[in-house]
Amino acid sequence: MSHRTPLIAGNWKMNKTPAEGVELAKALVAQVGTESAVQIVLCPPFTALDAVGRAIEGTHLALGAQNMHDKASGAFTGEVSATMLRGLHAGYVILGHSERRSIFGEDDAFINRKVLAALEASLKPILCVGELLSEREAGRTNEVVRIQVEKGLAGVPAGRAEQVVIAYEPVWAIGTGKTATPAMAQEVHAFIRGLLAAQFGAEIAARVRILYGGSMKPDNADALLAEHDIDGGLIGGASLEAKSFVDLVRSAAKSLAP
Ligand code: 13P
Repeated sequence: MSHRTPLIAGNWKMNKTPAEGVELAKALVAQVGTESAVQIVLCPPFTALDAVGRAIEGTHLALGAQNMHDKASGAFTGEVSATMLRGLHAGYVILGHSERRSIFGEDDAFINRKVLAALEASLKPILCVGELLSEREAGRTNEVVRIQVEKGLAGVPAGRAEQVVIAYEPVWAIGTGKTATPAMAQEVHAFIRGLLAAQFGAEIAARVRILYGGSMKPDNADALLAEHDIDGGLIGGASLEAKSFVDLVRSAAKSLAP
């Protein structure tokens, strides 16, 4: 961790009704609602965005969505746009999650259009990248991550690059209880920062947050967050309960201590 404000984002995936989401959000507000050293982002399903947004209004917690379409409006049944998310006061949107890529067939070109549309609407994209187990075993991790980052960020103006958050989520670590070791994760995070430097220059690259995601839990977070290029976490399972999520926020705050 360094001068970048750490970010802990909860990706609730397809979990929590509006009422359940509000209950969790209120518990989080009570415990970390005034935490200012760490940027906390809650990403409930679309159906709970409004209610959760109201529950965290006026606190340091921010709201994020889990996906969006790149078009502003039109005949796209079942989709939502950046403007609609802004209308609910979302500040962030997760894009290109591996579940979107593998289950819903999203490719880099579509994800790139969403990244550009999010930035255009002043939503901060959290662009997810990461390799499959077979790709890691074949020694292709850097190649896969490079293509996802370069294609995902194609056409992003340097002046907006700092709004982008990258989440490195090795697919084999998501929901499996297996985590990348801190050294493995740091290696890929440093590689990603190098890609950002090549595209936007070193100064901007040094300011972009790169999160780790994949079975991040209170018992492995300290070691991951101690790495220089790991600026926070995108949390799945451990974001669904107040206690584990609060512990992760506290780990991120602690990682700032000199
Ligand atoms: P888990 O923390 O459940 O492994 O999920 C990670 C993830 O996919 C966050 O986007």
